[in-house]
Amino acid sequence: MKINLSTKVGIGTFVIAAVGIFTIAYLSFHIMMQYSKETSLKHLNFELTQDKNSIQNDIKKIVYDAKILANDNDIKSYSRAFYNPYNYDAVTNRTLEGIDKNIEENFISLLSHNKAYFNIRLLYKNGQELLVIYKDDKGIHARPKKGLQDKSEKRYFKETINLPQKEVYISDISLNREYGRFSYPLTPTIRVALPIYIEKKLFGMLIINANINKLFDVLQQYDDVDSPKRIYLADKHGYYIYNQDQSKTFGYEFSHINDTIYHDFDAKKQSYFTDDLLFTSTTLAYSKNEMIRIILTSSVGFLKKDRNTFIDSLTFYSIIIALCIAIISLVLVRYLITPLTTITKTAKAIATGDTTQVMDFDTIHTNDEIQELATSLQTMLKKLEESKKDIEKKVEQRTEELNTLNENLEHIVKEKTAENIKQLEALQQQSKLASMGEMIGAIAHQWRQPLNELSISIQNLKYDYEDGLITEDYLNEFIASTKKIIKFMSDTIDDFRNFYRVDKVKEKFNVKDAIEKVLSIQKAQLVNNNIEVTLQGEGFEIIGFKNEFQQVILNLINNAKDILLQNKVKNAKITIELKNRTISVRDNGGGIPNEIIDRIFEPYFTTKEQGKGTGMGLYMSKMIIEENIKAKLNVSNTPEGAEFRIDFDE
Ligand SMILES: Nc1ncnc2c1ncn2[C@@H]1O[C@H](COP(=O)(O)OP(=O)(O)OP(=O)(O)O)[C@@H](O)[C@H]1O
Ligand SMILES: [Mg+2]
Repeated sequence: MKINLSTKVGIGTFVIAAVGIFTIAYLSFHIMMQYSKETSLKHLNFELTQDKNSIQNDIKKIVYDAKILANDNDIKSYSRAFYNPYNYDAVTNRTLEGIDKNIEENFISLLSHNKAYFNIRLLYKNGQELLVIYKDDKGIHARPKKGLQDKSEKRYFKETINLPQKEVYISDISLNREYGRFSYPLTPTIRVALPIYIEKKLFGMLIINANINKLFDVLQQYDDVDSPKRIYLADKHGYYIYNQDQSKTFGYEFSHINDTIYHDFDAKKQSYFTDDLLFTSTTLAYSKNEMIRIILTSSVGFLKKDRNTFIDSLTFYSIIIALCIAIISLVLVRYLITPLTTITKTAKAIATGDTTQVMDFDTIHTNDEIQELATSLQTMLKKLEESKKDIEKKVEQRTEELNTLNENLEHIVKEKTAENIKQLEALQQQSKLASMGEMIGAIAHQWRQPLNELSISIQNLKYDYEDGLITEDYLNEFIASTKKIIKFMSDTIDDFRNFYRVDKVKEKFNVKDAIEKVLSIQKAQLVNNNIEVTLQGEGFEIIGFKNEFQQVILNLINNAKDILLQNKVKNAKITIELKNRTISVRDNGGGIPNEIIDRIFEPYFTTKEQGKGTGMGLYMSKMIIEENIKAKLNVSNTPEGAEFRIDFDE
């Protein structure tokens, strides 16, 4: 399937844009979350500081209340009446009982005004309770005198009794007990005690017990179940002294060793945050020996919820934006690609050899790389066109040159051929002339016998005339016999003339007849040289210039004769054998040395001394046989001598 470029770019841009935008948005969201957690934690920390101050103020307030109570004039009156043998205070003119009543009223008033205070006591310096006002669910009561106890063994008593004037003891926070048992509902209690000095002499002490759940206003502030924030108070060991889940408080009292802040939080850190929680804590050392750890946490569930909605809308908007980008880039690419398409179309057309599309380039005015490309393509095309023309011109030129050359060549070839033919003819002439010398020798040989006979006959004619023997018959016989001799001689001349006549037409002739003619010319010479010539086998007919053929046979016989004479061979023999349309000319002259046998058909190759041989004989013979008669001439050595074979049927 062919997908065009703009679709590809569209899809590509969409995917890249979607992924890119989503990634960036997600990352920034992540960073934002981190940042918002950090900021929230800072806020939380700030809140914690405020809470701490508030708790500290709450504690200060009990101290303040305790001091007011302890310095009250009624207490002074009480001590005076207490030490008076009649339990009478002369200064205020009251009895101990009356003063007691007034103090009770003061205490009750304080208890009723302060919801956190539930117990105010006056203790004598030996630990004996003098006055106890307490609050329970039924109201505020003064403890009956007989119910008063000795508290000298209590820790707060021991801690406070040795304090100098104006110093205050603030207890740890522990569960309140009544008569040794926890009072229910469980009451986490802080005790503030201070010694009472009357005229620099220790009289006793004042103690206020307060329920911290009510005392520390901040605790209620976080009571709302829906609030993501929680406050916790812990003692120095990490046990909760305040937890909205009350069952977790005071674990050490109930052997719940896991109910500590260390178990629930990474509380060794002062503050931290996780995916779901912000945690911050501080320590409030509210007295010389006592401290509490205040912890403020906030769940980040709200952030989580935000996150999901955020991711949903993030995905939605990412897709929308990516789509917009894709559409814009699609349009842009379309706009950019149109000229490219034109270029591609043109390039395609050019590739198929159509250069008429060139004009399309002029429609591209994008003023950018595409236009540059178009321009370069156009230039390239022009150059191409130019070089094409150039090449065509060159080819034309070369063709012309070649044609001229061809013509010249033809001319030269013709000239050379003519020259060659002339040369060949000259050679033929030369070799003919050469053999003519031989022929004249041969004629001389042929004529010697008849000339002798004629000479003898003429000589005899003279003697016979003197003897009177000449009759008419004698003359007739003489004329007939001499005519016969002269005819023989005349025939011989004819033979030679025929032999050296240049044939003008090819003819059909019998090779045996032609060879016999050659032999008849040569016979006398060969017999003279004691060379025996035999011609055997059946003759056959061939077509060609008879004369040329006879010259070849003559050449072969002459060569054989030359070697036989040169080597002074006894029983010299030349055998000509006709068989199956082949002619074999053999001699017993000893053969041709191997080192020259390949060269004997070359023109001018001869082993004969200068003037005796031209070296053209075999060359001419091979030319005649192979070019004119279309047969084959080959040589080989027999045990006795050389053998030349002419094969007609190859
Ligand atoms: N029958 C033969 N036996 C031995 N050698 C031969 C024979 N025929 C030819 N040759 C060798 O081949 C050579 C070439 O022969 P070719 O007929 O071409 O020239 P030529 O006989 O030397 O000279 P030309 O024939 O012109 O007088 C000879 O010189 C001779 O050495
Ligand atoms: Mg020769």
